[in-house]
Amino acid sequence: PEARFTLDAAFAVGSVNPRLYGSFVEHLGRCVYTGVYEPGHPAADADGLRQDVLELVRELGVTTVRYPGGNFVSGYRWEDSVGPRQERPARLDLAWKSTETNEFGLSEFMDLCRKTGMEPMMAVNLGTRGVEDAIRLLEYCNHRGGTELSDRRAAHGDKEPYGIRMWCLGNEMDGPWQTGHKTPEEYGRLAAETARAMRQVDPGLELVACGSSSSSMPTFASWEATVLQTAYDLVDHVSLHAYYEEIDGDRDSFLASAVDMEHFIESVVATCDHVRARLKATKRINLSFDEWNVWYQKRPNPHPVEDWQQAPRLLEDVYTVTDAVVFGSLLIALLRHADRVTAASLAQLVNVIAPIMTEPDGPAWRQTTFYPFAQASAYGRGRVLRVEVDSPTYTTARFGEVPLLHATAVLDEETGDVTVFAVNRGRTDALPLKVDLRGVEAHTVVEHLVLADSDPEATNTADRPDRVTPHTATGTAVTDRVLHAELEPLSWNVIRLT
Ligand code: AHR
Repeated sequence: PEARFTLDAAFAVGSVNPRLYGSFVEHLGRCVYTGVYEPGHPAADADGLRQDVLELVRELGVTTVRYPGGNFVSGYRWEDSVGPRQERPARLDLAWKSTETNEFGLSEFMDLCRKTGMEPMMAVNLGTRGVEDAIRLLEYCNHRGGTELSDRRAAHGDKEPYGIRMWCLGNEMDGPWQTGHKTPEEYGRLAAETARAMRQVDPGLELVACGSSSSSMPTFASWEATVLQTAYDLVDHVSLHAYYEEIDGDRDSFLASAVDMEHFIESVVATCDHVRARLKATKRINLSFDEWNVWYQKRPNPHPVEDWQQAPRLLEDVYTVTDAVVFGSLLIALLRHADRVTAASLAQLVNVIAPIMTEPDGPAWRQTTFYPFAQASAYGRGRVLRVEVDSPTYTTARFGEVPLLHATAVLDEETGDVTVFAVNRGRTDALPLKVDLRGVEAHTVVEHLVLADSDPEATNTADRPDRVTPHTATGTAVTDRVLHAELEPLSWNVIRLT
């Protein structure tokens, strides 16, 4: 049996906000130290940034970068991370039981953004701190000059304001593990008052309120409703976080992770719109999916780590081909909701559950998950077309019957080109695909790129960095305005049409 769908430019979900291709740099493990930053590395520039890593960041096509956490931000003291390096204090990082030297700080982060073209997305500490600290940080970053804090920035070498538009109001404040964890009522008030004060400094900011740290939290949905009831007018986005892993060898359910992700998105949209109706509000709250990935949280850390170490090896997951296929499916889920998911951050960028890995004083390389992200960022720009798949299904323990095909399509409105992104969740059989192109102008196949492998456990490592790379499929063609393709078992596919 084959899978099929129809493309028609008249039926669109919405435009892709470039911020959908964001990522995340947290002071966690080796994301910063020996990740993006390693003075003395042969590839480091004069500022200590690893050029080999920055090149891969550019190739990945990351648009926005969230910083400095994550759980780390709930103990963050930004003023420790600015000014002369030799005067910066080392501090306990309670979130990850590590020592933070503050050698890499705000100015170095902005340098990273400038050199890679990434837009900064800054988080304020609403764990151990609050309104006053948030506006002081904002003034330090964005005020033009002539005040103590903006002049301090200039004295530290950054005369030009950073102009950071997007700000997260804390991180995962619903989680009992969070330093300064709060009830929804407490957080709703704090988020609203922090947002109000930040807008007094600059009304043009875009602010993200913390949603639930996962859809399995006991307070999920009521947390969002309570927070938004108080903060609705003052914020623009609510955040979503989700991580997926294979549990107890149930690969079929793992391959269907995006079913959960789409349900999560639709539930948060419904909750936001419910509050909108209750408040008789006209504006809509959009979604910032600012942490998403495959993360093997249940696996023990294979690396020995001591408490209060500097830059320990934490969360250094090595991704397989199977993981990359699930990861691609998560990207498809985001694109299929591009009307409301207007920002997203792949957690994280380097070494920590990341598409880019490094060795200290050694190489940098691409994980399997690098490829779906880079391809989606390169070709998934424009208008997402509505895709209703008619697909054979398979049975999963967690989600029941699930379509073997997961797909979306993006139309580049300037060129008329269309890119189909598709995953075959089937582990054993190829899936024939027919796409009726009756409503689009693109009828010629440019290329069909595939990430799949005879060994679904294959990975890229420092020794074999190119073990897994995309290949080109043959036989994909359009006849009589119908695209015919064969999707390999367990595969991520990018079919470009012009
Ligand atoms: O991305 C790793 C961690 O996951 C983040 O610090 C936290 O926000 C989430 O729980």
